[in-house]
Amino acid sequence: MKHTDIKDIFTKKEYIGTTVTVCGWVRTARDSKNVAFLALNDGTTLQHLQIVIDKNGDCVLPEEAAKLGTSLKIIGKVVANENHGTPEINAEEITVLGICPPDYPLQKKFQKLETLREIPHIRVRTNTFNAVFRVRSVMAAAIHRFFQDRGFVYMNTPLITGSDCEGAGEMFKVTTIGYSDKYKSAEEYYADDFFGRKAGLSVSGQLEGEVAAMALGKIYTFGPSFRAEKSNTLRHVAEFWHIEPEIAFCELPDLIEFAEEMIKYIIRDYMEKCPEELKFFEERVEKGLTEKLLNVVNNDFAVVDYTDAIELLKKADVQFEYPVEWGCDLQSEHERYITEKIYNKPVFLINYPKDIKSFYMKQNPDGRTVAATDLLVPGVGEIIGGSERESDLTKLLNAMKDKGMSTDDYKDYLDLRKYGTVPHAGFGLGFERIIMYCTGMQNIRDVIFYPRTVGNIR
Ligand code: 4AD
Repeated sequence: MKHTDIKDIFTKKEYIGTTVTVCGWVRTARDSKNVAFLALNDGTTLQHLQIVIDKNGDCVLPEEAAKLGTSLKIIGKVVANENHGTPEINAEEITVLGICPPDYPLQKKFQKLETLREIPHIRVRTNTFNAVFRVRSVMAAAIHRFFQDRGFVYMNTPLITGSDCEGAGEMFKVTTIGYSDKYKSAEEYYADDFFGRKAGLSVSGQLEGEVAAMALGKIYTFGPSFRAEKSNTLRHVAEFWHIEPEIAFCELPDLIEFAEEMIKYIIRDYMEKCPEELKFFEERVEKGLTEKLLNVVNNDFAVVDYTDAIELLKKADVQFEYPVEWGCDLQSEHERYITEKIYNKPVFLINYPKDIKSFYMKQNPDGRTVAATDLLVPGVGEIIGGSERESDLTKLLNAMKDKGMSTDDYKDYLDLRKYGTVPHAGFGLGFERIIMYCTGMQNIRDVIFYPRTVGNIR
């Protein structure tokens, strides 16, 4: 169907005075004796195009056209509005493409995000979700460009896997048969299943990413990861999109520098390409968002040792729900205190106790910490988790033994340390988390198309 995008009508002056065909859905309708106004939106911009219908002229306004949600094709002349100069259309012909009955759920101008969550197939038609998903798309492109411009190879790591990368037991099982008491043991059951062994949905592409980095040098993945965590929080979903670079010949300080460069690149690109959406989020979602993001791109991130962070938290004049001691896993309240109250900017926390981190992290000479880093940002908390990897086979085997892991499941991974091991490092960026940070949206369920959480799937 040949037609002009509404965005083009607003942005290209040459349309003024010409006759165009536009298509879209009715967002508001006002009718009076002599004239009717429709606000039309086709999804290409947050702005609605005003359609003016002179009821004394030749254009017929079909009765069902002036209803919220109705889809229309309109031929008409683009004119500049007398009062504010913005383009509008003097309609000449209106065709109804699809009627919309009064039970259409978006009758009210503003609806609560909770209510909209119940109708994911309709909520995308609101300006909030239009803005969120456009930003998501622009950011995905920025991420690919960032890595491609720097010579990284995009790898598609498997989604079905036989190993649990984080070793945290949060994997969804992949099976074609249900367990029944005809099996005498779990082993017998898995042996009978599709893959002949236990399989699950990948929590991270890192282990395969490391395999690729040992051949291609610099790689990244960008795909979904799955976590069967039952944490029903504002920042966890069971299916999230994960960006995981893995870099050979790279140590922790190089990794931190690189992660900061990447975050700044993504934010700069978003600010440049999405001014309309940024303005929308600034006005409707988070006051001061633009200034916050400008501060991020124009200043250095903080780098803080876990041990120092614990001291700062102990001295803090607040009663935390979870007490703080060296060796504890930081809770969201601690992370947020560090990044929001102490530094008020993004913070790389480094050198965590080895007992609370994954087996593959590089062991520091002190014998009790690992060269890990999490990037914490105000308002969201952790958006990146990463580390230098343990490249020494003996140390890696010892770490696995300490954590009670079976080395049989990780034979391929261990071969990487056997055949030409090198210092290397990588991290995982949660795509939804950085979108939350850049839009000010408070709930992760509102930055992903179809959120999957405990007890909720559609
Ligand atoms: O810190 P995580 O668990 O690290 C890994 O998976 C490493 N294997 C990454 C690597 O080194 N290649 O997860 C990385 C990031 C987190 O910082 C967070 O942003 C996001 O992934 N994330 C989640 N996002 C939404 N919902 C969840 N349930 C998430 N779990 C992790």
